[in-house]
Amino acid sequence: MLNIGIIGCGTIGVSICKAVDEGTIDAHVRAIYDRHKEHVKNMETSLEHLQPELMEPAKMFEHIDLLVECASQQAVSEIIPAALRAKCDVMIMSVGAFADHELYNEIRDIAKENDCKVYLPSGAIVGLDGIRSASVEEIYSVTLTTEKPPSGLAGAPYIVQNDIDIDNIKNKTLLFEGSASEAVKLFPANVNVAATLSIAGIGFEKTNVRIIANPELTRNIHEINVKGAFGEFNSKVENVPSPTNPRSSFLAPLSAIATLKKITDPFQVGT
Ligand SMILES: NC(=O)c1ccc[n+]([C@@H]2O[C@H](COP(=O)([O-])OP(=O)(O)OC[C@H]3O[C@@H](n4cnc5c(N)ncnc54)[C@H](O)[C@@H]3O)[C@@H](O)[C@H]2O)c1
Repeated sequence: MLNIGIIGCGTIGVSICKAVDEGTIDAHVRAIYDRHKEHVKNMETSLEHLQPELMEPAKMFEHIDLLVECASQQAVSEIIPAALRAKCDVMIMSVGAFADHELYNEIRDIAKENDCKVYLPSGAIVGLDGIRSASVEEIYSVTLTTEKPPSGLAGAPYIVQNDIDIDNIKNKTLLFEGSASEAVKLFPANVNVAATLSIAGIGFEKTNVRIIANPELTRNIHEINVKGAFGEFNSKVENVPSPTNPRSSFLAPLSAIATLKKITDPFQVGT
């Protein structure tokens, strides 16, 4: 049975542990770690059967086959290279860390040298299977259109720098259009989505991102348009917030659980 270690006992970490506890994922959570000890305690009390051991990451590597990062971008740069050097596969949720190209290349190289896998779940978007297939031949363009209620964009550097009065947006308004590499700096809350899409497709510079504020919305919408030698496809997801964390999409923990199920299942469905 696959032995898992989890870094980060927040919304996604707890969802994964519960899924293992309930038998949805055929694996064992051998160890957990969070920089806030009270988050570890909260996680433990939410479990019925599973009793994962609290361990520092460096010790964890000796006991696990797969490290799951569901903590922060900082955890990716601090912990993932060492996990790979210790020959653990890794699953990374804070994909936005890879907006740093050097870190992306470093982790890719270390994984290759140590014959390890790096799993990046789809998170809050849909359609990555199609982009992976399409990328075997030429992809001409990838456009991500993110549409959110204005409150979901409040405080973003782009809004602050341009002095945009977000509360006064009364109609659907296109606020930004540019490359994914610009978008991740100006709208950091979109960073995971833009990063996963860029890595799956044509990179941060060529991926086009549009950000729309729409006061009529209650859900965050991500639409993806891809054109290439294969033809063209569009995907659209209307995300409801996670029941335990309104800042996060419910689809994100579900995609983490689905990826772990795929890793442990003999049948590998989809690209
Ligand atoms: N790929 C996606 O589409 C997607 C979607 C949602 C969230 N995320 C990312 O996944 C990560 C987890 O999301 P969440 O909603 O569970 O967050 P959360 O805030 O609910 O939980 C994160 C937990 O990690 C802990 N933590 C943070 N940095 C740490 C570190 N360096 N070492 C140890 N523990 C640390 C925190 O104390 C907290 O308990 C975040 O980085 C988030 O941006 C990705």
